[in-house]
Amino acid sequence: MMDFVVLTIFPEMINPFLNHGIVRRAIEREIISASSIDVRGFAEGRHKVTDDRPYGGGCGMVMKPEPLAGAVRAAKANAPSANAKTIYLTPQGRKFDQGIARRLAQFDGLIMICGRYEGVDERVLDGLVDYEISIGDYVLTGGELAAMIVIDAVARLIPGVLGGDDSAEKDSFEGGLLEHAHYTRPPVFEGEKVPEVLLSGNHGDIEKWRLETSLIRTVLKRPDLLKDRKLNLQEKEILKKWCIDIEKIISA
Ligand code: ADE
Repeated sequence: MMDFVVLTIFPEMINPFLNHGIVRRAIEREIISASSIDVRGFAEGRHKVTDDRPYGGGCGMVMKPEPLAGAVRAAKANAPSANAKTIYLTPQGRKFDQGIARRLAQFDGLIMICGRYEGVDERVLDGLVDYEISIGDYVLTGGELAAMIVIDAVARLIPGVLGGDDSAEKDSFEGGLLEHAHYTRPPVFEGEKVPEVLLSGNHGDIEKWRLETSLIRTVLKRPDLLKDRKLNLQEKEILKKWCIDIEKIISA
C-alpha cells in the first residue's frame, strides 16, 4: 500500500488537503495512507527553533539540519516497506510530470521533505534524499504546495483510487495526447448542442470522434507533445482528413 508522509513545519497546511475528495476516500478505503510529521517536534530546546542564519552571510534563513534529519529518520523507521523513497521538493529538482508521477506510484512509500525559508542545510540532503522534484520553474515560499501536488497526481494513479478501472489510462498525457472533450446534460446549453455522435449510441463512432478531438486539440494546444511521439496509421489518417477539410475551406 502506498504511504505518503509529509515532513513540514506547517502540518496544518497538509491535513485539510488529505481530508477532501478522492484522496480522503482513498485513505478511508485503506488504498493509500497519508500523514504529516511536524518537523518542529524534532527541534531542540524550549523554543523549538527550526531555522538559523546562513554561514557566509546573506539574507534569509536556512532550515537547520538536526530537526529535519530527525523527522526523516522517524519517517523511515515508520515506513511500512524498504521500498519507500525520500523526496525533497525544490525548484532545483527534476521537473514533475505525468511520467514521473507514474514512476513514483510504483513505490510503497513516499516521504516528502518540504523546505521553508531560503532552503535546507545541504548536509541533510546529501545522505537522506533519493530524489529532488520541482513542480515547475517558479519559486514558492515552501515545498508544501508541491508535496500536495505530487500526492494528488500520484494517488489517483494507484489502482482502485479512481472509480472506473481505467479512468487514469484515458487521462491527458497518458497516451501522449490531451484528453478528448467532455459533455453532460443538458443536450442544449445556451444554444450550444452536444455533438450528435455522442448521442448516437454507436461506440465505434464515439471512440473515433474522441480520438479525433484528442488529436486535434493536441495539435492546437500542445504541439510540443507530438514532437516525441510517433503517430499511428489511424491518427495520420485523421490529421490528413483534417488537412483536406481545411483545404476545402480555403479554396471555397
Ligand atoms: N519549493 C519552492 N519552490 C518549489 C518548486 N517550484 N517546486 C518544488 N518545491 C518548491
